[in-house]
Amino acid sequence: MAQKAKFERLPTNVVPRHYELLLQPNLKEFTFTGKTVVQVNVKEPTTQITLNALDIVLDSVELHFECSKLKPEKIVYSAENETATLEFAQEIPAETQGVLHMSFTGELNDKMKGFYRSKYFGPNGEERFAGVTQFEATDARRCFPCWDEPAIKATFDITLVVPKERVALSNMPVIKEDSLPDGLRRVRFDRTPIMSTYLVAVVVGEYDYVEGKSDDGVLVRVFTPVGKREQGTFALEVATKVLPYYQDYFNIAYPLPKMDLIAISDFSAGAMENWGLVTYRETFVLVDPKNTSLMRKQSIALTVGHEIAHQWFGNLVTMEWWTHLWLNEGYASFVEFLCVHHLFPEYDIWTQFVTDMYTRALELDSLKNSHPIEVPVGHPSEIDEIFDEISYNKGASVIRMLHDYIGEDTFRKGMNLYLTRHQYGNTCTEDLWAALQEASSKNVSDVMTSWTQHKGFPVVSVESEQTSKNQRLLRLKQCKFTADGSQADENCLWVVPISVSTSKNPTGIAKTFLLDKSSMEVTLDNVDEDDWIKINPGTVGYYRTRYSQEMLEQLMPAVEKMELPPLDRLGLIDDMFAMVQAGHASTADVLALVDSYRNETNYTVWTAITNSLTNLHILISHTDLMEDFHRFGRNLYEPVAYRLGWEPRDGENHLDTLLRSLVLTRLVSFRSSDTIEEAKIRFRRHVNGTELLPADLRTTCYKAVLQDGDEKIFNEMLDLYRATDLHEEQDRISRALGCCGDLKLLRRVIDFAMSSEVRAQDSVIVIVAVAINPKGRDMAWEFFKENNKQLLERYQGGFLLSRRIKYLIENFAFEERAKEVEEFLQANQIPGCERTVSQAVETIRFNAAWLQRDREQLAIFFRDDQ
Ligand code: BES
Ligand code: ZN
Repeated sequence: MAQKAKFERLPTNVVPRHYELLLQPNLKEFTFTGKTVVQVNVKEPTTQITLNALDIVLDSVELHFECSKLKPEKIVYSAENETATLEFAQEIPAETQGVLHMSFTGELNDKMKGFYRSKYFGPNGEERFAGVTQFEATDARRCFPCWDEPAIKATFDITLVVPKERVALSNMPVIKEDSLPDGLRRVRFDRTPIMSTYLVAVVVGEYDYVEGKSDDGVLVRVFTPVGKREQGTFALEVATKVLPYYQDYFNIAYPLPKMDLIAISDFSAGAMENWGLVTYRETFVLVDPKNTSLMRKQSIALTVGHEIAHQWFGNLVTMEWWTHLWLNEGYASFVEFLCVHHLFPEYDIWTQFVTDMYTRALELDSLKNSHPIEVPVGHPSEIDEIFDEISYNKGASVIRMLHDYIGEDTFRKGMNLYLTRHQYGNTCTEDLWAALQEASSKNVSDVMTSWTQHKGFPVVSVESEQTSKNQRLLRLKQCKFTADGSQADENCLWVVPISVSTSKNPTGIAKTFLLDKSSMEVTLDNVDEDDWIKINPGTVGYYRTRYSQEMLEQLMPAVEKMELPPLDRLGLIDDMFAMVQAGHASTADVLALVDSYRNETNYTVWTAITNSLTNLHILISHTDLMEDFHRFGRNLYEPVAYRLGWEPRDGENHLDTLLRSLVLTRLVSFRSSDTIEEAKIRFRRHVNGTELLPADLRTTCYKAVLQDGDEKIFNEMLDLYRATDLHEEQDRISRALGCCGDLKLLRRVIDFAMSSEVRAQDSVIVIVAVAINPKGRDMAWEFFKENNKQLLERYQGGFLLSRRIKYLIENFAFEERAKEVEEFLQANQIPGCERTVSQAVETIRFNAAWLQRDREQLAIFFRDDQ
């Protein structure tokens, strides 16, 4: 591990109250100039003012206070701390209201952070550039000198000087525009509320837009690339409905007069919640009815819901420090589901929550190298690293558990209390618990701290004994769950809200209680001898369950008959596979149980099965059992594929459409010849122009033709890529390219990923597509080893690499690889990836152990399964 740089937060002897900020981008030279006039309070006498600045040059600085004007004697920059210190010859007295004038220049960079340039194409295909900001977490300092910490809030008067014909946007509406010489225009925006620097935003470019008004009177606009305004209508519809929904849910009005959503062509995250000006990757906001898949549409609805939730949770009330980032991200990741459930009940989105958020959190959180939700962070590279499944998925999952524990009404009351009490201020996790506790009669803080202050989660083991004709005694034990089944490195007790259901009422709750000790006995009434018992109905508790063999045997028929509700069928299979990976059960045994899911109809349950089998698929790709595994997969998925067919039925439900894409894609990967043949025919018709493939089936067909395709097919796919200007389609094609079976072609995929044809924001995604193909695994790793410097330079740290690097390395299954990866990344450290790399190495090691343990048995299982 690298020596952690000692990090200190900014001194607070001088703090800003208000910024006037003028920015003038030069979209041809890729530079910008700026001026800021900051009203500051001097709280203690000082000769120094330290603020954040990075990669900008302060050209002139002057402090005005009382009747004097002072220029600093020296400006000391620290690239390491990302600060500039203004050193004055004379002491500035305390309780002074000073005005700090600073002008500065910088580069409109191509790293998608700070004030950067985003490339798009004009009507004749010529390159053009927009100027865009992305400040979270710590990049406002790359645009203007400022106190760039979430707790140092101020108001902003923003002015842009831009070419006359360009659209200029910021957080607030325009209040004044003037023409300037040289074809320029000055645009002044209204004053913002008091807010954190990371939420400030400006955009200068060419855009079309659609607009509407929400029921609560907010002007909503969606800005799209020129000529594509109708692609903004779906997001507009969602946003206009979501605003009044949240206003009602939180019982607090959206405090700004307008809400803009804008699609940005070069964008590193998925979306960013800048107050009043939310920026999106194109794929996260644009819907082209003929070419957008339902899955994409669903994820756009969730994204819009997520970013708009931040307008309250994050923007109005902000975490005091990044340690509490999860308050922002975990909470928004929970609420996005509330809102999509409200707008699109047919998505059954809460069931999808479990495979989308919850099981992914458990998976990461079972590693020794996980981290607690509340995690001390200092330096910016450490901050980038915690935009991960712990802050998002575990955060959302523990909030869902709490929501369930205290009940909807109480939860809402508590939220309102929290938001009202802390509006325009900053909070720590404890503040949220305090408000929720006040609203409820339960001891929220005691229950929740065990979930946010410790990494990991418990596995609850249960045994049962029939003690009388209709009474069953449950014996429960909790201990920390570890992915590889090893002894936990720390012993921790959680306060676990447990609920139980039984076959008497599969959808009801028979009993709830708190498991706050390491073991406990509980008696259930009204349970007959042959009744099944399910722990954690609805899969809301953030823990895994390990049943005794007997209890499991009673449950499985309820799966087969689909008596157990979907969320329980889903939780059960996910837990069982986790037990297998940890060595508490054998893979062959669980594969035999999978048979009970053959009649499954629920999309999300199939997603859970698929996720678990994908982990196994990776493992088996290191053996000679692939063919057997493919056969097993075909047998499992064929009945449901047959039921659904290829043709969507008129007005079929959303989830069946998703299920069709899922199972057909799986069948392609299991080498089902019927499926592949049909896919090829449909692909041919698509390319010939006889019949356009529905967007939902394109990935399936692209993968089918590429899997054993030759150079001709490969080139055809590239032609399709080049023929479209829809980012979603390019994304789909470039990911499918990773499926090629031929090494020469896979090498071309990597070259393509790094070429100018693929946007920098997507290069790693395409390389990952190669890495997750067993045939490309070694190649992608070799490529990474040779080019890690170049990749690092491409993104200058940041999360484009850190969020994805694990997929490049974690799929190996031998100790030698674990060592190699570990040593290489030790010698070639990537700032902000340290923890992710340790997690991936840990995963390789437990893959190795799993494989060694179960290989023989699997061979026997498959031999008997013939
Ligand atoms: N605040 C984040 C954007 C962000 C992510 C900034 C990482 C800096 C680093 C935003 O609210 C967000 O969470 N975006 C998600 C998409 C969303 C639908 C979950 C993202 O970008 O992954
Ligand atoms: Zn977010």
